Amino acid sequence: MPQTTLTSGSTYWPFKKYFGVYNRSIKDPEAFWAEEARKLEWFKTWDKVLDWQPPYAKWFVGGTLNASYLCVDRHVKTWRRSKVAIYWEGEPGDTRVLSYSTLYREVNKFASVLLNLGMKKGDRIALYLPMIPELPIAMLACARIGATHTVIFSGFSAQALADRVNDTGARLLITADAGFRRGKPVALKRIADEALEITPSVEKMLVVRRANIPVVMTPGRDVWLHELMDQASLFVNPDPMDSLHPLYILYTSGTTGKPKGIVHGTGGYLTFNHSVYKWVFDIKEESVYWCTADVGWVTGHSSIVYAPLMHGAAIVLYEGAPDYPSIDRWWDIIEKYGVTIFYTSPTAIRMLMRYGEQEIEKHDLSSLELLGSVGEPINPEAWAWYYKHIGKEKCPVVDTWWQTETGGIMISPAPAIECPPLKPGSATFPLPGILADVVDEKGESMPPEERGILVIKAPWPGIFLGVYGDPKRYVESYWSKFPGIYYTGDYAIKDKDGYYWILGRADEVLKIAGHRIGTVEIEDAAVSHPAVAEAGVASIPDPIKGEAIVIFVILKEGFSPSPAIKAEIKDLIRKSIGPIASPEQVYFVSKLPKTRSGKIMRRILKAVATSASIGDLTTLEDESSIEEVKKVYEELKKEV
Ligand code: PRX
Repeated sequence: MPQTTLTSGSTYWPFKKYFGVYNRSIKDPEAFWAEEARKLEWFKTWDKVLDWQPPYAKWFVGGTLNASYLCVDRHVKTWRRSKVAIYWEGEPGDTRVLSYSTLYREVNKFASVLLNLGMKKGDRIALYLPMIPELPIAMLACARIGATHTVIFSGFSAQALADRVNDTGARLLITADAGFRRGKPVALKRIADEALEITPSVEKMLVVRRANIPVVMTPGRDVWLHELMDQASLFVNPDPMDSLHPLYILYTSGTTGKPKGIVHGTGGYLTFNHSVYKWVFDIKEESVYWCTADVGWVTGHSSIVYAPLMHGAAIVLYEGAPDYPSIDRWWDIIEKYGVTIFYTSPTAIRMLMRYGEQEIEKHDLSSLELLGSVGEPINPEAWAWYYKHIGKEKCPVVDTWWQTETGGIMISPAPAIECPPLKPGSATFPLPGILADVVDEKGESMPPEERGILVIKAPWPGIFLGVYGDPKRYVESYWSKFPGIYYTGDYAIKDKDGYYWILGRADEVLKIAGHRIGTVEIEDAAVSHPAVAEAGVASIPDPIKGEAIVIFVILKEGFSPSPAIKAEIKDLIRKSIGPIASPEQVYFVSKLPKTRSGKIMRRILKAVATSASIGDLTTLEDESSIEEVKKVYEELKKEV
């Protein structure tokens, strides 16, 4: 295993604790992680800490544990049984407060419902739910019986839902009649009904009554949760799971049209998250922790459900939009529940910044102790606003870099272990146990202040187990560029003090409002329109969302550009992926810039859409002639 230690040579060297922990973790990672793993409760201790056969890492081999046991049973054995586990607030203003003992009871009953429906260890169960307590409860119930959950973001369309369900071969889909968004019920059951027409593996649909809207229940297939909960057992044994048992599958976008099912295991994932949430957020007994992400993304899995509940913290779960019914909704929630740790995205910060400070000043935010940011680079201006107006210059802002694949936070300030001072816009340093680097195309370390590719040079416990049903893709997407080294797909620089600055994606993945969307996914949706011959997607900077989508379309012979076709293309994309993938602009063009091997040159599309120059063409990494590219660029500029 490659080894390195951070040395002084920086003006920040006095902050010895972080460097001490970091250096110890890198010197003997197995001893370090074994010590961290012992902070959980295992049914059986592992035989081997790490079995590393690049690119496959098996952590805590032979150990057994149960995620649901760690999140609920462990607490009800202590005084925490009467402690708040979840403060839930519905968008219309209805609330529910669940203590750890209530959560324990609900998880057990839900697990019994799953067993009564014939679900068993190893089955996949799909969750298509709004942000209501039943979502974490269902996840923990799946974990309790060893079923692998796959949460599908409730903003996804019927087609996107069906694609994911089919990829996992789930036997059960759990949904709700509807969830609330901006004052209106979003009829999830109806979308699920449409999806289930093309998902042969699904035998049953379990429906939560949330909004009380009329739904059509298909006899023999659909069942109401509340009816089954009434007959459920009060206790289901938390089944001991092998450390490598798949806890969940979560879909994320990559460079091809098909989303990847990222599989996370149990022992490594839980150990890693238990540790990093302590270091980064300094979760304490009295913490009230609010992560505003949707549970449909990895942030929700680790930051709303598994990490804070393992720590026995009180979490806030909010169903709706940040600015509904008024723009101070979030500040109102912080004040109401005395939130101490607040974790959100740069897009949300930029959106709320736009409304000014007046609404903030109406609220008492003095409970806040720590602020976090995740999902996309945070610009120093948004960082400074967040620090000043939300944190009142007393709360550290932790800019946390990680990915669906990494399972937990990798590069971030870590106040609980005395991290070096913050620099607005920098995720600062890798956490203990994370051997990060910035390298060139050949895998050689870059000198300070120069842009390169962010890589991780040694396995860590949160690393995903693979891409569901596609072992080749695991190797090709992450491990083939630099054998034995994890390729993140991000550009970064390390400054002269060793701080990491994440610059955005180096591949064909976009980050729209922090959501990961593949360019090819959008292009595939567009070309399914009967008038579209070819499509090329790029992004342009957006002051709120970070990036926005633009699409260049070549129409088939016999079709001419029209506002109607434009609207149909947009609608098709929304239907096949979801509203988050709606393009900002559709341009009709006669050709697309391509490499000789036929790859669309998105950098050129981006330059056209932003009226930028095409930049330094000598760095063109493909085999196309520069003259040809310039010509297409000039022609396209005239067309858009
Ligand atoms: O490009 C990086 C960006 O989000 C990508 C991972 O997206 P996803 O798997 O959806 O997970 C998001 C939440 C963990 C990364 O490859 N990203 C994430 N956090 C940051 C970031 N970019 C800059 N700064 C961050 N703090």
